[in-house]
Amino acid sequence: MSNTEVIALLDEIERHPDAVRVRERTHELLDGAERIVDVGCGGGRAVHELGARAIGVDHDPATIAVARARYPAARFQVADAHALPFPDASLDGYRAERVIHTLDAPRALAEARRVLRPGGRLVLAGHDWDLFAVDSGLPEVTRRVVHARADQIADPRAARKAHHLLREAGFTDVATEILSTVITGPEGLPVVLNLAKDQEGEEIAAWCDDQRRRAAEGRLFLAVPVFVTSGQVIG
Ligand SMILES: C[S@@+](CC[C@H](N)C(=O)[O-])C[C@H]1O[C@@H](n2cnc3c(N)ncnc32)[C@H](O)[C@@H]1O
Repeated sequence: MSNTEVIALLDEIERHPDAVRVRERTHELLDGAERIVDVGCGGGRAVHELGARAIGVDHDPATIAVARARYPAARFQVADAHALPFPDASLDGYRAERVIHTLDAPRALAEARRVLRPGGRLVLAGHDWDLFAVDSGLPEVTRRVVHARADQIADPRAARKAHHLLREAGFTDVATEILSTVITGPEGLPVVLNLAKDQEGEEIAAWCDDQRRRAAEGRLFLAVPVFVTSGQVIG
């Protein structure tokens, strides 16, 4: 999937009320932080929402160009989550949404801890790629589709691992909340079809057709638990 396609898919997801609620919750958990980095910021919406106290970083220059064009008043920089361009203990807040599954999580968390000052807070949000509930006339195929998609992800279960990884990285007051995303409208179709990405065969084609039919008939159903895990650097 190209960057433009990823951004287009995320634009669709980001507007959904359940996704808005996740972003709002991450912002609440960073309440009071004055210097925040949003790592893997994508199109930059969360940075824009957080305002002048945030800077967005993403390792993809084309994505940063899109974010800058969308939000000229916001700050963005090309940078890798494993080597952030900030001095030690220089930030109060770290946010990463839908990113940890693509990273070397222990290295990225060590880097997060380095840039956060004592008392600084980290918030991760994301789903577990093995946990998509999709209603389908072909439930056995759904199971295979979801697990095959998870197998394409670098660290598909990073969201459920994050809690203890934060503790092992030296964060305190670690807490994990689950916020649900439930999509029943046709806007969920690209998300559901993305689960079948790079999977081929008659069964998969039938499964996708079933989803297209459901979307057209107003019967699509997708439920995903979103894990919000936060912690603090010992003050
Ligand atoms: C699925 S998108 C999520 C974007 C945004 N956080 C959101 O929730 O809409 C993941 C983003 O992380 C970025 N990313 C992946 N690996 C990264 C890394 N090692 N360092 C910085 N950004 C990274 C990708 O370029 C992409 O923009």
